[in-house]
Amino acid sequence: MAPHYNILVLPGDGIGPEVVREGTQLLSEVASLYGFQVEFEEGLVGGASIDAYGKPLTAPVLKLAKQSDAVLLGAMGGPKWDGLDYAIRPERALLALRQELGLFANLRPAKLFSALLSASTLKPEVVKGTDLLVVRELTGGIYFGEPKGVTRLPDGTERGVNTEVYTTPEIERIARVAFEAARKRRKKVTSVDKANVLEATELWRRVVTRVHREDGYGDVELEHILVDNCAMQLIRNPKQFDVIVTTNLFGDILSDEAAMLTGSIGMLPSASLGGKVGMYEPVHGTAPDIAGKDLANPLATLLTVALMLRHSLDQGEAASRVEQAVEMVLEEGYRTADIQDPGCRLVGCKEMGRLVRERIEKLS
Ligand code: IPM
Ligand code: MG
Repeated sequence: MAPHYNILVLPGDGIGPEVVREGTQLLSEVASLYGFQVEFEEGLVGGASIDAYGKPLTAPVLKLAKQSDAVLLGAMGGPKWDGLDYAIRPERALLALRQELGLFANLRPAKLFSALLSASTLKPEVVKGTDLLVVRELTGGIYFGEPKGVTRLPDGTERGVNTEVYTTPEIERIARVAFEAARKRRKKVTSVDKANVLEATELWRRVVTRVHREDGYGDVELEHILVDNCAMQLIRNPKQFDVIVTTNLFGDILSDEAAMLTGSIGMLPSASLGGKVGMYEPVHGTAPDIAGKDLANPLATLLTVALMLRHSLDQGEAASRVEQAVEMVLEEGYRTADIQDPGCRLVGCKEMGRLVRERIEKLS
């Protein structure tokens, strides 16, 4: 019998729905070409859920997520909901999903397609050959640490607190993910911390070093680098990096920086793993300014679908085919507005999605 997968689709807000639509169409196409079945269930999250139910994530949607084989997510948030209390902001849904599904490992591969060499704001000779993977810890650190919140002091001023917390097991498991990932790549891990100032990341450095030594990862090279230096090295010489493993907050920041090496944040996919169900989302946000105008770049979502095929659906060959098709369309000169260059063939979100599906059919 053909394998059958249940995918929960959470389009979210802004450009989320339009890029996710291209993602599900791609999945259906790939499923029929590679002989498996996908069934989609759709739910509201983020601002869309706030408008309908008064909160960013409802219990039925969370339940559907837990029962699915994988979750395909668009993006959440937008100016409309910015004024809301922290506890019910759209972004809370994302954090809750990550936590509830136990998705402690966030993989964000930043690979430059050679056709996009001139799309980056950096010099071509600097970004050429960039192919790195940010492994971001996703359910710990300052995003979740207690105490947190804003309190009013007796003198009428306020005090805001967030806490960076990491425990040994949290660091061990993300370090292992990074070492394992490096083994399948160029066998180098750069662990990023601020060990010269922050105790929590001094522990991070110690534990990563110990896991490397005690768990038999001697075949993988390990180096440590301070986050400020890493931010600089990423734009000075990105080729030096293979796998970067880092904390939740540093990973958030460095992965946006890494995205720009590839030309546009509209190109960066991500996979969140660690629990029974994987969650897949493009790294870009909701881009409210271009939402609903068929201007968004769907390629990050299509590459995200490739990650889903590889990590959750056991369809590695189909995943590689998707990546090849994206490369092919770029080589042929098709570009969405965010990556356009002189002489390119400018297309919208739908057309870009269609072109990739068409190439996959040819390649398969
Ligand atoms: C990301 C985003 C989220 C994060 C926001 C939307 C909560 O920036 O996935 O990188 O900070 O993790
Ligand atoms: Mg971010």
